[in-house]
Amino acid sequence: MTRRALVTGATSGIGNAFARELAKRGLDLVIVARTTDQLEAIAAELRSKHGVEVDVVTADLATLAGMQAAANALTDSARPVDLLVNNAGASLAGWFGTTDIADEDYQLDLLVRAPMHLMDAAIKTMAGRGGGEIINVASVAAFTPRGAYSAHKAWLLNLSRWADIHYDDVNISVQALCPGFVRTEFHPRGQMDVSGVPKWMWLKADKVVAASLRDLDRDKPVSIPSFRYKVLAGLAQYLPKTLVTRMAKRGR
Ligand SMILES: NC(=O)c1ccc[n+]([C@@H]2O[C@H](COP(=O)([O-])OP(=O)(O)OC[C@H]3O[C@@H](n4cnc5c(N)ncnc54)[C@H](OP(=O)(O)O)[C@@H]3O)[C@@H](O)[C@H]2O)c1
Repeated sequence: MTRRALVTGATSGIGNAFARELAKRGLDLVIVARTTDQLEAIAAELRSKHGVEVDVVTADLATLAGMQAAANALTDSARPVDLLVNNAGASLAGWFGTTDIADEDYQLDLLVRAPMHLMDAAIKTMAGRGGGEIINVASVAAFTPRGAYSAHKAWLLNLSRWADIHYDDVNISVQALCPGFVRTEFHPRGQMDVSGVPKWMWLKADKVVAASLRDLDRDKPVSIPSFRYKVLAGLAQYLPKTLVTRMAKRGR
């Protein structure tokens, strides 16, 4: 039977690269984001290019109704989902404490509550069906105290690590994908100044996806694409936290 994946945030960046690579590998898809016309255009392209089924779910994942719409696709027993990619995300331009608290609520819902709801739906369905796979797109920021965004990603990393071990006996693999800087719409949309980020620190979305899927095949619970970021993440974990936090304060 053809495998099916649900990818959130499939209209651009890392999520779009996941949708393209998974369709190329012959998986049917459910793609989720807020922009219907973009979702429909991507779905039409992937259907005609790869002969796969692509369902579209328009949803704002920072709302309960949006989370429920995506969760419904995960619990539909007629069209089972084998792989969930919790990817949709965004960032705010300012540091926590300077931003509007309503915007912080939105971020918390999008980066924490939505993946939590979708993981919950996926685990309950997959456990009853003999297993499945979940990729949670966190960030290398999860290893460094760096405002609310890194705290949200640390939450996702922590829950993923636990879930991968806890649900191993029902054949569910959970990966936290922790990329560094990736060239996508993420920074322009968040109006973040990344002009000071050196060229060597930028990754390509398709390379990030290839590393994640390779690590998923190898059952690695944490995927950190590229050698340079493996080193940086290792340093961030073992150096004193005050030093890491001071270093991370520079740039965004
Ligand atoms: N780029 C980086 O440097 C980087 C590094 C580490 C981790 N990440 C993480 O990677 C993930 C993907 O980011 P990206 O870099 O690919 O960014 P991106 O190019 O801006 O793509 C974000 C995707 O999320 C969707 N999205 C945003 N808000 C949404 C909402 N409220 N409801 C539903 N969908 C929403 C967007 O679609 P619509 O606008 O159509 O809804 C879009 O498809 C995020 O979780 C981000 O935190 C990014």
